[in-house]
Amino acid sequence: MKLKQAIELDRKDSLKKYKSHFLNSKKEIYLNGNSLGKLPIKSIKKIRKTIDYEWGDRLVRSWNEKWLDLSDNLEKKLAKILGAKKREVKIGDSTSINLYQIVFSLLKSNLYKKSLISDSFNFPSDNYIIEGISSNFNIKNPTIINYSQDISAEINLIEKAIKKSPGILCLSLVSYKSGWMYPLKKLNDYAKKNNSIIVWDLSHAVGATHIDLKKTNTLAAVGCSYKFLNGGPGAPGFLFVDNSIQSKLENPIKGWFGHKLPFKFSDKYEAANNINKFDIGTPGVLSMVGMEAGLDIITKATTKSIRKKSISQSEYFISLINQELDSYNVKIESPRDPLNRGSHVTISHAESWKICRTLAKGSKKFPKIICDYRPDKYIRFGISPLYTSFQDLYHTINALIEILKTESYKKIKKEKNRVT
Ligand SMILES: Cc1ncc(COP(=O)(O)O)c(C=O)c1O
Repeated sequence: MKLKQAIELDRKDSLKKYKSHFLNSKKEIYLNGNSLGKLPIKSIKKIRKTIDYEWGDRLVRSWNEKWLDLSDNLEKKLAKILGAKKREVKIGDSTSINLYQIVFSLLKSNLYKKSLISDSFNFPSDNYIIEGISSNFNIKNPTIINYSQDISAEINLIEKAIKKSPGILCLSLVSYKSGWMYPLKKLNDYAKKNNSIIVWDLSHAVGATHIDLKKTNTLAAVGCSYKFLNGGPGAPGFLFVDNSIQSKLENPIKGWFGHKLPFKFSDKYEAANNINKFDIGTPGVLSMVGMEAGLDIITKATTKSIRKKSISQSEYFISLINQELDSYNVKIESPRDPLNRGSHVTISHAESWKICRTLAKGSKKFPKIICDYRPDKYIRFGISPLYTSFQDLYHTINALIEILKTESYKKIKKEKNRVT
């Protein structure tokens, strides 16, 4: 393993200039953009201005002067990143709420049979949400597809489930565990042929992969903006509804911001006749302001270049794991084909929790390395092509070798943190 090679790869990296657009700590390596992305420098100024001038000085006048147009402006930018039309994307609330809105409205619409399907790779919250909704529509239980292993979804099982029980599916385009990435168009087309629809959760894909919702015949999706979109902690989620079905869907949560004319304060609810009907209540202005800089950086860098670098970095990282960690009982738990992998690489080891904590503590031999532990045995390394360098990945492998060789992880106590 050669540092020279990593330095050379960084030298040739066409996206390296974007690292300086984020707040970076010289003392640590951050491989957790798949949980919470870094802070874009421009967001600091934007949020400060919102606090000092718009909130501090202009107060309620800021709604007219700026805040009422905030979501519209961000939606246009996000739509471009997703390959959607500008009136097909709605930003606001959380991914969980967005998913509830879409799945509930699809069931109510009678566009599809009342069957709900998900799989064991989906994020738990998504499965809780659809299970919760199922009781409203007398659906016994959603079908949860289980696979024979934890790395790749078995497409034939998804197709079989659709054939058996056509209706509404919910899948995460990139699985939070192994990083498995589904063939988006292939599954959308199969669903369509079988009178079904897939609601995609794009949370782990958007900002780190190249997504074209139109070209892949996607009809509905949700996602979050605090991971690879770098929107900040608790930044708003988003939903996408294709124009072809928008008019047939109704928001199950009828708040005043989804009204055609919210500031008429009418006694009667009349939904907006466009994507704004999926608005609910007053938008979280500070969180929305925090989203813009991340979207601008991604637009400039382009998702095609980001995806290209993500693949090349993941391949580099995986090759080093194979080369250097084979004798330490480390197993790669992510798909080997980059076309079926998002932008994080998962490994397993019997002492994953302790290894993860040892990385985060740093030592005289290596800097602090922030990654993610996921029960029971997984460590996820999130590669954010906008600020991850090949040298970061090289040093992470060196740290792992050091920890595994010396078994320094044994000094870590058992108790776990709440998040990672
Ligand atoms: C894939 C995925 N879906 C849904 C969620 C839930 O999002 P929220 O908490 O914003 O509702 C998360 C949270 O991390 C996630 O990773």
